[in-house]
Amino acid sequence: MATSNLHPDALKGLATDWSTEGIVARRERFYAASQRAFVPYRTPVVFKRGEGQYLWDENGRKYLDLLGMNVSVSVGHCHPAVVAAVREQVETLVHCTTMFYHPVPAHLAEELVATMPSGHDWVVHFTNSGAEATDLALLMARAHTGNIDFLALRNGYHGATFGAQSLTGIASFRHNVPLLGGIVHVANPDQYRGIYGPTVEPYLDEIDRAIATQTSGALAGMIIEPVQGYGGIVAMPPGYIAGAFERVRAAGGLAVVDEVQSGFARTGDHFWAFEAHDVVPDIVVMAKGIGNGFPLAAVVARREVAECMAGKFYFNTYGANPVACAAGRAVLRVIAEERLQDNARDIGGKLLSVLDGLRQRYPLIGDVRGRGLMLAVELVQDRATKTPATAATAQVFEAAREHGLILSKSGAHRNVLRMVPPMCLNDGDVEHVASALDASFASI
Ligand SMILES: Cc1ncc(COP(=O)(O)O)c(C=O)c1O
Repeated sequence: MATSNLHPDALKGLATDWSTEGIVARRERFYAASQRAFVPYRTPVVFKRGEGQYLWDENGRKYLDLLGMNVSVSVGHCHPAVVAAVREQVETLVHCTTMFYHPVPAHLAEELVATMPSGHDWVVHFTNSGAEATDLALLMARAHTGNIDFLALRNGYHGATFGAQSLTGIASFRHNVPLLGGIVHVANPDQYRGIYGPTVEPYLDEIDRAIATQTSGALAGMIIEPVQGYGGIVAMPPGYIAGAFERVRAAGGLAVVDEVQSGFARTGDHFWAFEAHDVVPDIVVMAKGIGNGFPLAAVVARREVAECMAGKFYFNTYGANPVACAAGRAVLRVIAEERLQDNARDIGGKLLSVLDGLRQRYPLIGDVRGRGLMLAVELVQDRATKTPATAATAQVFEAAREHGLILSKSGAHRNVLRMVPPMCLNDGDVEHVASALDASFASI
């Protein structure tokens, strides 16, 4: 007689084991290497609960989440309005595949369109993740223009799927397989350590050269993060995005911005980071903060661009899932009602001053940068040579954990401490960061 692989006896007694040893042992034994490899700290940290900008580990120790669970928790862990919206939807209907009609995703599409520059006809396609949204943007741009060649920036990150990985310009995220062809990476205009220094024109000239020498001359588009996130909070300088998109459009391509990290009010001055650059893109890729931790992402595109996809099916099973979209609607409401964009600007400004103060006291800090609640300090061995202080960054990162701060090590050299907390951060938190980082830098 055939037996089921999942016999009920196999699950007997498997109440969730919260012991650190149990979690570590199961992870080591049952996770694939691809899922195991991404571990930030020397010893594991197990989170059990979150509220607002705070997290508690399995022993009840409290931390300030300056990483926002990878920029995903935008309005605060377990925000009551998001929880209530999700609970109501879960209790009514958990999934409604997109071939059937449901009002919640349709409302969210309308609300997202309302955040975009007016005077354009925007439409929305929901996906589950940022990488799926990036892939769709690439496909849409190629399908709409009929061109193949696509520009991306070195040091950019766009996701792990084949398309998104092919656009990514950081070796540690690019696997040793043939990625997509027709993608050319150009120098990123990093004003701290970019190859042409703190200027804009030479980086734009490189786009001209790349189009002239590495493409057919006809482009499908170019994708830019207005602030490179995993790349270490590298903001595009004024004039760069507009100049780049002008060149791309002249070659027949579309302007694509990746707002996965920088969107949803995080940069404080604007709801979308591209708005600071006097450009209106053709396609915007968004994820992370849109769902406050629920898997939700989207491509928002001009109707005439998206229309090229009408002749074929393109389908992510859980795209437009009503539970995730209920979370998305609540997130937009909370950002508006709690004035979190203003808070990101004001509290982010105070945090930036604190980081500047630390820079004056610790020569290890080579650069302090960012806007709103998208901030970073870059650690160098020597301010003149800018040699990355990778080992010291790891030490500060570990020490900060001991002082109750969860940070991120970012950048190609892992020498950037990135801060992208929930946007409800407050003055007391800034004081905590000031003393905890001071103690962490002093300790190494
Ligand atoms: C800027 C940017 N784009 C795209 C992605 C991919 O998003 P996801 O991990 O949801 O696929 C990420 C993820 O970190 C990101 O930071």
